[in-house]
Amino acid sequence: MPKWLKNAVFYEIYPQSFYDTNGDGIGDFTGIIEKLDYIRDLGCNALWINPCFDSPFKDAGYDVRDYKKVAPRYGTNSDLYRLFEEAHKKGIHVLLDLVPGHTSEEHPWFKESQKAECNEYTNRYVWTDHPFAPIKGYPYIGGECERAGVYLLNFFKCQPALNYGFLNCEEKWQLPPDHPDCIATREAMKDVMRFWLDHGCDGFRVDMAASLVKNDDEVKSGTCALWRNIREMLDEEYPEAAMVSEWGDPVKALNSAGFHMDFYLNRPGNGYNTLMRDYETGEDNSFFKKDGRGDITRFLEEYLPDYTATKEHGYYCMLTCNHDTLRPKYNLDDEELKLAYAFLFTMPGVPYLYYGDEIGMRYQKLPTKEGGYHRTGSRTPMQWSAEINAGFSTGSADALYLPVDPTADAPNVAAQEMDENSLLNTVKALLKLRREEEDLQADAGFEVIYAESKRLPFVYRRGDILIALNPSAETTTAAVEAGSRSVRFSIGKGKAENGTITLEPQSFLVLK
Ligand code: NOJ
Repeated sequence: MPKWLKNAVFYEIYPQSFYDTNGDGIGDFTGIIEKLDYIRDLGCNALWINPCFDSPFKDAGYDVRDYKKVAPRYGTNSDLYRLFEEAHKKGIHVLLDLVPGHTSEEHPWFKESQKAECNEYTNRYVWTDHPFAPIKGYPYIGGECERAGVYLLNFFKCQPALNYGFLNCEEKWQLPPDHPDCIATREAMKDVMRFWLDHGCDGFRVDMAASLVKNDDEVKSGTCALWRNIREMLDEEYPEAAMVSEWGDPVKALNSAGFHMDFYLNRPGNGYNTLMRDYETGEDNSFFKKDGRGDITRFLEEYLPDYTATKEHGYYCMLTCNHDTLRPKYNLDDEELKLAYAFLFTMPGVPYLYYGDEIGMRYQKLPTKEGGYHRTGSRTPMQWSAEINAGFSTGSADALYLPVDPTADAPNVAAQEMDENSLLNTVKALLKLRREEEDLQADAGFEVIYAESKRLPFVYRRGDILIALNPSAETTTAAVEAGSRSVRFSIGKGKAENGTITLEPQSFLVLK
């Protein structure tokens, strides 16, 4: 396990929308470099940058055309190497986004693979042996290539699946994972990883990590074996490199596949979803809404078994949001967000903060951009100030990658820096607290002390620290003995006296 993860706090950057330094309306590497001090002062010491590689951008860069070359719109490879260097000088680690499941249909490997005559890349993708032969259980495309077969897709039409084999082969064109050509795909991905690690990157967020071996079994033994093989390479050659999976199934991702971290992903109706986005499944009873109709046991019932089963193997990670999810501000106001973040940033594992969530950027209703569809509204330019284009770019407003929040009260960094009660300053205070208290970091234990269905507050322990949380607009109490602990940090007001914890409306108490 890379040691630096223990107190890591990640900041996710969607590079298109972070900071534009050359006025072309789109973010760039120099922009990220210029904002490293901001990120460090915020309290984050690690970055995850969404795919920044050469791409036709039919899926915002998740359709990679060249794994080893950055997209010119962000700068050059040298600019990215400089970003690694400058980040390291400030104690910031950098993860890139690895997309191992598919490439763009414009990738040279795919161009070779679709040729009628056999070549090195014939089996780099999954093809049937007849132009009219369907692929059972998977989306596919036929009739587009000279090769007499159809090919399997991993996501959008522009993303043919790379071939890591089929665990259970049912057709003669399906190859087993240990076929030399499937192993060659895996080795090609290792080569991509080595390339970036050798140039100074610190690891990868792995896209659709569960998707690699097809016709896999229930426990994903084919895909997990593949990742374990990659983890062996990392342990041997790059022991400080970190890998976080987009999987959302920590027992598989951490215990079997060997990822260091897995995301607790938002899925309608799941435990994480009940915290901030319960509106996706009907009446909104999100736990962090101040109407107090939430129920923390809906979260705990799912989280606790997963946390308990995986805590010795890796980190199950909490996110404010990501580039695929509606921003939490869609549904929660800043006071509600303060408590939601207080919770997310004091949980075990490694927290991830999506750019702009620290100021409560809004979800924008916008037409689709680069395959974003409903996700586009969470990908708008960072709002740095009240100046032109919210300080994101000096280019003309028409040239911006996406429009900035047009409302008069659009939140921005400069204004919130001046206001000691702002969401931004609360995030800073929370991350400072986490940095100072080892008991609030990734490894320290987590125990539920008071959590009753439809009752508040919620009280939990991290190491020796006791934390109590009341997201509602009513004062709440719980019979919890705090011992000799006193208030170390608070949002709102609360106290622990004579075996009772009392929390005033919308408050958060850290007792040490
Ligand atoms: C998950 C990524 O987060 C998403 O943005 C992308 O569209 C798909 N994987 C396909 O790569």
